[in-house]
Amino acid sequence: MTQREDAVLRVGDQEYTLPVIVGTEGEIAVDINQLRGTTGMVTFDRGFANTAETKSAITFLDGEKGILRYRGYPIEQIAEQATFLEVALLLASGQLPSQSELDEYADEVTHHTMLREDMKHLFEAFPREAHPMQILASAISALATYYPDALDPRDPWAKDISMKRLLAKVPTMVAWSYKYSQNQPYVYPRNDLDYVANFLHMMFSYPTENYEVDPAIAKALNVLFILHADHEQNCSATTVRVVGSGHANIFSSVAAGVHALSGPLHGGANQGVVEMLEEIVTAGGDIAPFVERAKGKEDPFRLMGFGHRVYKNFDPRAQIIKRHAQEVLAKLGADDPLLDVAMQLEEVALGDDYFIEKKLYPNVDFYSGVIYRAMGFPTDLFTVLFAIGRLPGWIAQWHEMQKDPTTRIGRPRQIYIGEPKRDWVAIEERSTS
Ligand code: ACO
Repeated sequence: MTQREDAVLRVGDQEYTLPVIVGTEGEIAVDINQLRGTTGMVTFDRGFANTAETKSAITFLDGEKGILRYRGYPIEQIAEQATFLEVALLLASGQLPSQSELDEYADEVTHHTMLREDMKHLFEAFPREAHPMQILASAISALATYYPDALDPRDPWAKDISMKRLLAKVPTMVAWSYKYSQNQPYVYPRNDLDYVANFLHMMFSYPTENYEVDPAIAKALNVLFILHADHEQNCSATTVRVVGSGHANIFSSVAAGVHALSGPLHGGANQGVVEMLEEIVTAGGDIAPFVERAKGKEDPFRLMGFGHRVYKNFDPRAQIIKRHAQEVLAKLGADDPLLDVAMQLEEVALGDDYFIEKKLYPNVDFYSGVIYRAMGFPTDLFTVLFAIGRLPGWIAQWHEMQKDPTTRIGRPRQIYIGEPKRDWVAIEERSTS
């Protein structure tokens, strides 16, 4: 990091000097760590849009230029060449693994994919129509109860085994909750399959017949998981960090991240996109009224899959996904009217002044749902697929935070705007309005 001149803050006739921090890609931050101590003031920043809470070496993104890199490697190169577990190891360790390191890691993760048999009862306690994101968060939370000796975030052995168990067991939990929802028998993991193929096997095979994983589907799902693997300090990763900052174990921290991801403004948007596209097709396929509604100030409707807090030019993940959506649908011989509507919607919105002025572009969720649909996943499972993809990021962010000696418990300030001090009134003396 290069040194920069300090910043000066002037309030009335007082001047305060604030140090400036520069990141490896030239991002500049005014360091306000001592602000309240020296001035008595705090900063006000809705949605943390201008606040860097941490220094991180995991993911770099430049929203203006549409750049995304994991540990310095461009997402375009990673998506084409890596396996999902290779990316998980890269994010957690910081280095590209050698073949033997990767084999050892994959072997360890593979040998933790089974769930304790008792966990079946957990899935069976939910209504069959329950949303899988709620079940996933509950199941991850419940994992902690099976491994009480491996929960201390300050114990290196406990941290290591818990990170591997979490990554290994989530696909099994997702597949089993799906099987339960369908009233079908659970399918056990197979150690001869890789991470993605094993997940597809547990999701779509039956005990009665042989199931061959389609390599085209496995490859596309591998790319989709990689594209979701990390996105620096987004809503769910920040949630994982804040929960973990109180030394909560990794299962509790990531379960909270799953809840954060479930919202329609975050990961829930991929389900929202397909529901919106279906609505357009059902209404006759005319996209114009939907674009107009999205622009209306009075109408809360938004074009799902459009806009991003950080990307203001294009989302590089969306571009890769769009290409794969066309390829996957062509390979599977699927002719989905939703893809045509999505492409028309993108074209119209990208040429519309409202979307141009507000810098609203398709985000990662815009095309992913169309691919998941072609692969045979039900709509309410889309956000869960995002969660599987995001696991390496949550794990790496939690791990980086736990080993950083400067980490403090997450505890923002507020500007109180309630009533000033007033005296308690006995209930019989209160006036009725
Ligand atoms: N459709 C129509 N108008 C939009 C959209 C949209 N999809 N997104 C933003 N706008 C408008 C807002 O109404 C606002 O207009 P205004 O300035 O006139 O009030 C302006 O653009 C800025 O929007 P904000 O909500 O202030 O932007 P913010 O950065 O807080 O939110 C967000 C970003 C949540 C992604 C937003 O663009 C959105 O709701 N998009 C749709 C949901 C979605 O696709 N979410 C997935 C995000 S990617 C991810 O989490 C994986």
